Amino acid sequence: MLDLSGKNALVTGIANNRSIAWGIAQQLHKAGANLGVTYLPDDRGRFEKKVAELVEPLNPSLFLPCDVQNDDQIRSTFDAIRDKWGRLDILIHCLAFANKDDLSGDFSNTTRAGFTQALEISTYSLVQLAGAAKPLMTEGGSIVTLTYLGGVKVIPNYNVMGIAKSGLEMSVRYLASEMGPANIRVNAISAGPIRTLASSAVGGILDMIHHVEEVAPLRRTVTQTEVGNAASFLCSDLASGITGQVLYVDAGYEIMGM
Ligand SMILES: NC(=O)c1ccc[n+]([C@@H]2O[C@H](COP(=O)([O-])OP(=O)(O)OC[C@H]3O[C@@H](n4cnc5c(N)ncnc54)[C@H](O)[C@@H]3O)[C@@H](O)[C@H]2O)c1
Repeated sequence: MLDLSGKNALVTGIANNRSIAWGIAQQLHKAGANLGVTYLPDDRGRFEKKVAELVEPLNPSLFLPCDVQNDDQIRSTFDAIRDKWGRLDILIHCLAFANKDDLSGDFSNTTRAGFTQALEISTYSLVQLAGAAKPLMTEGGSIVTLTYLGGVKVIPNYNVMGIAKSGLEMSVRYLASEMGPANIRVNAISAGPIRTLASSAVGGILDMIHHVEEVAPLRRTVTQTEVGNAASFLCSDLASGITGQVLYVDAGYEIMGM
C-alpha cells in the first residue's frame, strides 16, 4: 500500500544533501511519486545550481524558484503545477528561517523584525502554501510539515523558532479541520535534531544531538531517510485515517522526563 505511483508531489525546502527535504524527496521518489521541487532563489543562482544537480537523479518534472516571502513566486509555482500536472496530491512543507542572533541568548532580546520574519517564513508559509494547494488537490491530498519539540517544550536557544513551531503545530490542526471534508490530510512530523544548514544556526546544536544520543530510548538521533520514510507513510493510503497529528520521529526522545 505504500505505493505513491501516479501521485504528484511538491517538495519545498531542499538546500543541500543534508536537508530533511532531500531525505523526503528521495523516499517519495522510491515510492513512485512524480516530483516537483522548489528552491530558494538567490542573486547569484547558487542554490538553483546546487539543488538542480542534487535532484537530477529523481527526475523532477517541475523545478521552480519559490521564496515564500514572495507572493508572485508562490502564485507562479501553483500556476505551473495546474498547467503541467492538473492536480496536486502531496505537499511537503520543509522550510524555516530565523536570524542566527535570535537563536541563542535571551529570548526576551528577540527583535520585532526577527520575530515577524521567523513566523512569516516558518509558520505563515504553511498556511499560504496549503491554501494555494487546496484547489489543486481535487482528488484529496496529503500535506506534511516539519516541526520540532522546541515548539512544545523549552529547548535552550531555540527561542523564537519555538514560538514559530508552536504556531505551526496549531496551524496543522486548523488546516486539517478545514480541509478534511475535501479529503485533504494535514500532519506534522516532529523530527529529532539532525545536522543541517538550518539547525547549525541554533546555538549548541551539537550538544543537543549528543544529549539525544545519550538519553533517547534508541540511544541515537534520527536520519533524513527515517524522516523521509515517515513522510511517505503519511502521504500514502496507509495513513488514510490520520490527520491533524504531530508524529514524533525522534528515536523516542519526546517520551523521556529525565
Ligand atoms: N534539522 C533539525 O534538527 C530539525 C529538527 C526538526 C525539524 N526541523 C525542520 O525541518 C525543516 C527543514 O530544515 P532542515 O533542518 O532540513 O534545514 P535546511 O537548511 O536544509 O532546510 C531549510 C530550508 O528552508 C529554506 N528556506 C529558508 N527561507 C526560505 C524562504 N524565504 N522561502 C523558501 N524557502 C526558504 C531553505 O532554502 C532550506 O532549503 C525546517 O522546518 C526545520 O525547522 C529540523
